[in-house]
Amino acid sequence: MAFRVAQISDTHLSPVHPNFVGNFERIAADLRRLKPDLVVNTGDLTVDGADRSDDLTMARRLHDAIGLPWRAVPGNHDVGDDPLPTARQPANAERLARYAEIVGDDSFVVDAPGWRLIGINSLILGSDLPSAANQLAMLRDATNEAGDRTIALFLHKPLYLGGEDPDGTYWRVRNVGRNALMAAFGTRRPALVASGHMHQYRRLRHDDITHLWAPSAAFVVGDGYQQRMGTKLVGYVAHEFRADGGFDSELVTVDGLALDDIVDLPEIYGPHKPVQVGQLGA
Ligand SMILES: [Fe+2]
Ligand SMILES: [Fe+2]
Repeated sequence: MAFRVAQISDTHLSPVHPNFVGNFERIAADLRRLKPDLVVNTGDLTVDGADRSDDLTMARRLHDAIGLPWRAVPGNHDVGDDPLPTARQPANAERLARYAEIVGDDSFVVDAPGWRLIGINSLILGSDLPSAANQLAMLRDATNEAGDRTIALFLHKPLYLGGEDPDGTYWRVRNVGRNALMAAFGTRRPALVASGHMHQYRRLRHDDITHLWAPSAAFVVGDGYQQRMGTKLVGYVAHEFRADGGFDSELVTVDGLALDDIVDLPEIYGPHKPVQVGQLGA
């Protein structure tokens, strides 16, 4: 029997902007029917949990209401973005504490036959925050103690964009964070890196790692504002992790999901500015 994980991502829930609750409920109903062993949200649970507790509270309630075991790693809209001097909402101790209090841990380790599933907070990678060092220590321990289990990593921002793979972009973990992460893995490498944030579905291989971008469960970002690198749709990913270390990952779409473009909803995040790959977002 394979261990089945439903990876939902970028659900962008909020009582102030409940636009995407309908999509969440449709996917939740699908999950209740299929009963995966675990549901993992790879971040941006909320529209603006970085500044609104109510968004985090709603996300927690709706995830609990799925009625299945679930874990989450935060996104930039939940705990703030990379704590750079230019960040409008930098991840900081206050935001991280609020997320921890309302949603729960920002990392996880779950073992399944033949597998160790590790979730981490990608927004603090490579930062000077104390929790960043603690997380790397956790990762080193989880890797060292994985034995012969195959590792799958879940995080919000992708590690790899393909092509020129520019550093310093809003769209992926910066090199400083990626290097720290890979150093913590030592000689081991995850077989799968499953991320969110892009609001596109894509699967690519690089350095013997399968990088899988889950689509958003909420909305897409128009081509004029974000390059099309994968498939722009709304849905989730069903993973099957087998005891022999093999896995299958499949895109799942659900009937009735609304396909909103965030560019058409400026009341939520304001008028969009193009943030192409290679650029740092505002
Ligand atoms: Fe998102
Ligand atoms: Fe994001």
